[in-house]
Amino acid sequence: MCLLVVVVYFLTLLLPLGHASLPLVINTWPFKDATGAAWGALQSGGSVLDAVEKGCARCEADQCDGSVGYGGSPDENGETTLDAMIMNGDTMEVGAVADLRRIKNAIGVARAVMERTTHTMLVGESASLFAENMGFTAEDLTTNKSLNIFSEWLKGNCQPNYRKNVFPDPSTHCGPYRMIAIDQAGHLAAGTSTNGLTHKVPGRVGDSPIAGAGAYADSSVGGAAATGDGDVMIYLAVEQMRAGADPSTACKTAISRIKRHYADFFGAIICANTTGHYGAACNKVAGFSTFFYMVSNPETDKPALLSVDCF
Ligand code: GLY
Repeated sequence: MCLLVVVVYFLTLLLPLGHASLPLVINTWPFKDATGAAWGALQSGGSVLDAVEKGCARCEADQCDGSVGYGGSPDENGETTLDAMIMNGDTMEVGAVADLRRIKNAIGVARAVMERTTHTMLVGESASLFAENMGFTAEDLTTNKSLNIFSEWLKGNCQPNYRKNVFPDPSTHCGPYRMIAIDQAGHLAAGTSTNGLTHKVPGRVGDSPIAGAGAYADSSVGGAAATGDGDVMIYLAVEQMRAGADPSTACKTAISRIKRHYADFFGAIICANTTGHYGAACNKVAGFSTFFYMVSNPETDKPALLSVDCF
């Protein structure tokens, strides 16, 4: 659904919790080419923000599993729209776009919002016009695949349908990747990219472009990001790490908090601290009992696939 990468740069440590090898790239789901792109950006001297942007951009271009970038998750009108966010954990600056239309490189536009404006988030048509104004190419985000998903949904009586308490009954009427970066001097950045929920109500914005919900970065602590149902995802993992929790415990605490209100929610969180320790947690629901994520650090000569059992 979304990508998160945590990068800790230029430092290699062996700490009591086990190997914590730095720099570190970690991201949700087995999107190893995106992990490699972020890692490659660091290895070629790029900043942590560059790593975040390159990793997310790779997923946007590759469409990863269809949950990121163009040609996926058509909304109720059949249109693919994108949400993305990037956060500099050193300055706490954030750039985000939501409901972005016709522009494939959402994470690039999010970075432009952060670096070329004093604002934090732009949405909808205005975000697209800003992107064009900044030199991003406008193109159709529809593909045969997204058209097929849309027409199957129409044929299937428009289910699933996210409307409720409306008439006529929606069943008879037709009406989301993340990234974080940290360096030796304490610089940290975070980013996300997704095309949101398939068949969403047009205009719906999930957790991904919201700092503190989709992802968060604080150079004095670490970073965290979530993937899953963005209508309920919100987490306190970074604050848990600030209070001394290790990354796995911080992730579990955040998932537990959400479970209290949404026992059946689909979601996972990955966390990393500035020492290079990392962890993940997920909510066990039917069909989702193991969560896969990728890690790259000096001890993995290529992006390594890891997993965690959901609880
Ligand atoms: N977590 C991505 C979304 O709900 O849009």
